[in-house]
Amino acid sequence: MSVEGTVDWTAHDLHAWQVLRPLLDAGPYLPWSSGAMRASGLVTLCNEIVFGRRRMVELGAGASTLLFARALREHGGTLDAIEHDARWAQWVTDRLAREGLADVARVTLAPLEPHPLGADGLPWYAQEPLAAALGGAPVDLLLVDGPPAHERSVRYARYPALPALLGYLAKDAVVVLDDAVRDGERDVLERWERETPYRFERRELEAIALGRIPARP
Ligand SMILES: C[S@@+](CC[C@H](N)C(=O)[O-])C[C@H]1O[C@@H](n2cnc3c(N)ncnc32)[C@H](O)[C@@H]1O
Repeated sequence: MSVEGTVDWTAHDLHAWQVLRPLLDAGPYLPWSSGAMRASGLVTLCNEIVFGRRRMVELGAGASTLLFARALREHGGTLDAIEHDARWAQWVTDRLAREGLADVARVTLAPLEPHPLGADGLPWYAQEPLAAALGGAPVDLLLVDGPPAHERSVRYARYPALPALLGYLAKDAVVVLDDAVRDGERDVLERWERETPYRFERRELEAIALGRIPARP
């Protein structure tokens, strides 16, 4: 990444943190870490919520879960966050309860286990709790920010998300992959585009890719 690129990211994110201020001020401090989504990516997801995405699913819970839940409380809608780590699942669940957001968002613990779609034999979320959480109305906003895929050995850990969850998605659903600037995620996106009808806009500054099924001409 060039110095110019770094400056661009910083300016973009500083602006995004200002845009997010009402949601940040709507509750107690949130512990953002380097593993969390970039602020500019969070803005894109919150805009989708404001413009009418009412059933959201997030793979990989964290501070973002609390922020999205605050936005959904204000604009209407629900969030199912899927988390493999029992400690994080409990922490986010407790925070949702403390903020009175348990009716808006819930965390489902789905440990990682062998999965028929696992690329390189990598595990993915346990199918039973996932299916129990995702039944009901079609999902119209899917965020893929888990399982962790930052190390080379697990760089394809997020591949199963789209093929496994296609059947739960509304026809006009938006699918967002975080960390889309990494080599592993770039490969995953190419594979998703070969194997599904989704096409993705790569947004380098936000480190996300935003996908939809294109309208027929
Ligand atoms: C990329 S993080 C997901 C972060 C979340 N979507 C966010 O943006 O806040 C992937 C995993 O890291 C763990 N995690 C979440 N928040 C964390 C934090 N603040 N510090 C360390 N690990 C975290 C969880 O197990 C989560 O599934």
